[in-house]
Amino acid sequence: MTESSQTALNRAGIQSSFDVNALRAQFPILKKRVRGNPFVYLDNAATTQKPQSVIDVLNQYYTDQNANIHRGIHYLSEQATEAYEDARSRISKFINVPSERQIIFVRGTTEGINLIAQTFGRQRVRSGDEILISTLEHHSNIVPWQLLAEAQGANIKVIPIDDRGVLDLDAYGKLLNDRTRIVALSHVSNAIGTVSPIAEMCREAHQRDIPVIVDGAQSAPHMKVDMQALDCDFFVFSGHKIFGPTGTGVLYGKDKWLRDMPPYEGGGGMIQSVTFEKTRFLEYPARFEAGTPHIAGSIGFAAALDFVEEIGMEKIAAYEHGILQYATEQFSQIDGLKILGTAPEKAAVLSFILDDVHPHDISTFLDQDGIAIRAGHHCAQPLMNRFGVAGTARASFSIYNTREEVDVLAASLRKIVRFFKR
Ligand code: ALA
Repeated sequence: MTESSQTALNRAGIQSSFDVNALRAQFPILKKRVRGNPFVYLDNAATTQKPQSVIDVLNQYYTDQNANIHRGIHYLSEQATEAYEDARSRISKFINVPSERQIIFVRGTTEGINLIAQTFGRQRVRSGDEILISTLEHHSNIVPWQLLAEAQGANIKVIPIDDRGVLDLDAYGKLLNDRTRIVALSHVSNAIGTVSPIAEMCREAHQRDIPVIVDGAQSAPHMKVDMQALDCDFFVFSGHKIFGPTGTGVLYGKDKWLRDMPPYEGGGGMIQSVTFEKTRFLEYPARFEAGTPHIAGSIGFAAALDFVEEIGMEKIAAYEHGILQYATEQFSQIDGLKILGTAPEKAAVLSFILDDVHPHDISTFLDQDGIAIRAGHHCAQPLMNRFGVAGTARASFSIYNTREEVDVLAASLRKIVRFFKR
């Protein structure tokens, strides 16, 4: 380990207090061998692995609690309802939301953004209006707004970035105008790791009474996200990127918006009364949770947040920062390797290209050594276009990754360099 990353860990006081091997032991999948090698999982921005505590909660739910919620007047249904609502409450505390009712369960970040676009967005955006997004967005924070813009006759405007992948805040200020009806921003770029100054950007938008929607899929797993401090109008994140089950996520919204938003989907669980002539809807959150939800998943999601809180988000952020710094230093010593995304504020993502080796080939070569990364456009094609590449290779880190794994990755990349130089 280099001196600077050692210092970063020491400064955070975690070098001595954090036993990464003990933590790794809580993730059964990390014991796997892949193609005869120890499994090195560096695709955490796509999805994280699950600790035994989350697996146990899912198992326990189906073994001992399974029933439908909010419907049955029987013992198990009451138990399941209580566990589901308790999960909502724990998640609300995790992101410091005033009332747990402001937490709406969705299938993930993508569904959350689509829900906002098709309810709040349709209410708010009219012909000639503007929706402001940024160059850093994932397709899930572009396409729902394009669908809305097309339906309403509105226009999408885009905040540019500089060559490091940092948002141009002067341009942002100039793009905000009387026609801007919604700002939608990722907190952390999934493709290059830039952390954007969301609280500051919210303040600026709010001066013009423009609501801000934040895609927190890649921030919530890596840093403390506090709804009171950020003061965004909506925030969405997924369970599976923070050690929870796939198919889970939450949408937080301010009461002043949620209370007047129309339903997204219709069905059971969201109505007050139905006749063939007229349906009356429940208040939020039920209004937005039609049908039987992913009950076990939401309970598992809350268990994942318990796991995070047990370690402590500050410790996670500091440890991952140390790993990112170490990997960045290692990568800088590899011939022909170029990192895309060099923002001063970055989360645990390293996107790179290696001479003219296709990112898919990099991934295939690494896979032979048991290393899992992601390669391609990362559902961020406009961002790739901005950098003039079709795609990158991306290593993304989590709390269970080690410096030894970074060394294995660097050694495998050097092998690729040698192979292509032959
Ligand atoms: N959005 C996920 C990623 O960045 C799937 O890999």
